[in-house]
Amino acid sequence: MQMMRIATPLARRKFLAASAAVLLPAVCAAPAHAVTAPASLTAASGKWPLVGGQAPPAAVWAYDETIPGPVLRYRQGDMLTVRLQNNLPQSSTIHWHGLRVPHAMDGVPWLTQPPVKQGDMFDYRFPLADAGTYWYHPHVNSAEQIGRGLAGAIVITHPDDPAVDADLVWQLDDWRLLESGALAPFHNRHDASHGGRIGNTVTLNGRIPDRIPVTAGHRMRLRLINTANARIFGLRFNAGNVWLFAVDGHPVQPLALKDGQLAIPPGGRADLVIDITAAPGDEITVTDDYYQRAAYRLCTLVSNGSPEDAITAGRRPPPARLPANPVAAPDFTNAIDDEVRFGGGAMSRMTGGRIRGVPADLQTMVENGLFWTINGQAMKAGDHAPLEPPLWTVKRGQTVRMRWHNDSAFPHPMHMHGHSFFVLARNGHTAPEPVLHDTVLVSPRGHADVAFVADNPGLWMFHCHIPEHQHAGMMGIFLVDD
Ligand code: C2O
Ligand code: CU
Repeated sequence: MQMMRIATPLARRKFLAASAAVLLPAVCAAPAHAVTAPASLTAASGKWPLVGGQAPPAAVWAYDETIPGPVLRYRQGDMLTVRLQNNLPQSSTIHWHGLRVPHAMDGVPWLTQPPVKQGDMFDYRFPLADAGTYWYHPHVNSAEQIGRGLAGAIVITHPDDPAVDADLVWQLDDWRLLESGALAPFHNRHDASHGGRIGNTVTLNGRIPDRIPVTAGHRMRLRLINTANARIFGLRFNAGNVWLFAVDGHPVQPLALKDGQLAIPPGGRADLVIDITAAPGDEITVTDDYYQRAAYRLCTLVSNGSPEDAITAGRRPPPARLPANPVAAPDFTNAIDDEVRFGGGAMSRMTGGRIRGVPADLQTMVENGLFWTINGQAMKAGDHAPLEPPLWTVKRGQTVRMRWHNDSAFPHPMHMHGHSFFVLARNGHTAPEPVLHDTVLVSPRGHADVAFVADNPGLWMFHCHIPEHQHAGMMGIFLVDD
């Protein structure tokens, strides 16, 4: 895999070199830019000190001038009302990733709304059916718009949320920076045909994290969101009692992580409860070893407070399971079975595909910047409604069970709009319980078995959440017919 020159703490120190004055604030320990339901989000270009110190700030695109964008906070059942003011030098939209929204609010240009032109605005308004951790991002030129920083968290609380001493968003991102600290140019064929834009600088809530003070005995909720274009995170906590209790916003049976690896693909979320059982002065290190030959330390939680509190925390029971969100349960007695195949990319034997329904040979595909297919079709974005036939069409209310096959040499985080889906099995291993996702990582030459009730009418996107792949053909539409 390319671009493995990743930001080890060592490499990151190079950026920070010679600048003793660089004090990284406890970005993780404070609620990131807590905002209750702002009436508007303004997208615009700006500057952000990603690296800090002597390095010049990066030329980012941001919501409300902050990286990441403001955290939008609601209660389950609230109405989200947000006006997008687009001051970017190009069109944009907002997609509410993971939220089951009415079709007209989904933020997909040409499919659900006209793109919001430079200087224009658009009002989003819909009720929030589900509690949990979600996020928002543009759906226009996503590789660059998300890659330059347009992304923010959505926190939707539930009355039964676990009582915690701190409820924190950890928005993880990955940037490809040049030696100068500037963002590397976007859009290249290597990223598109290989693993996407994997960067070299990992940030947590918009800064390179380091040492984060925490309090012995505290129970913290961490809402992890992977807003990177292509980097998959595989986190390990070397101490503390850590439980995973929600995935992609939806509650799961609390699972003790121990020293196991928590993988979060681009677009994915994981909600953790961590009890700080480390004695004062002790450290909890969070490492990311998803790419085993490029493991690095993400950050270190430094415990303060009283030893007794640390001991008491070690005896706390796991958090209770949260009530499920109101997602329809599949009816397997009346399910439609289908298969979807992902093909293409480097190191595969792609011979061609269909573009807008028309067979195309490999050369034509490449000339169109298309390297990937879904069921043999490479969807090409344009300045008009999609001309591709839907990948599948189902009646509203129908249970659909599918096997998603990855015939390629790269992992793909596959994301479905308008619906959450149950992951039943991966690579033949049945999950202990079907877990709701909106994005699931399908491993190279692997497959995932999923099921969902197609209960949200409209034409929806289905795509890889590595936007370099998405724009290189790895997307399609499906129809839920009312
Ligand atoms: Cu988060 Cu269509 O994407
Ligand atoms: Cu992909």
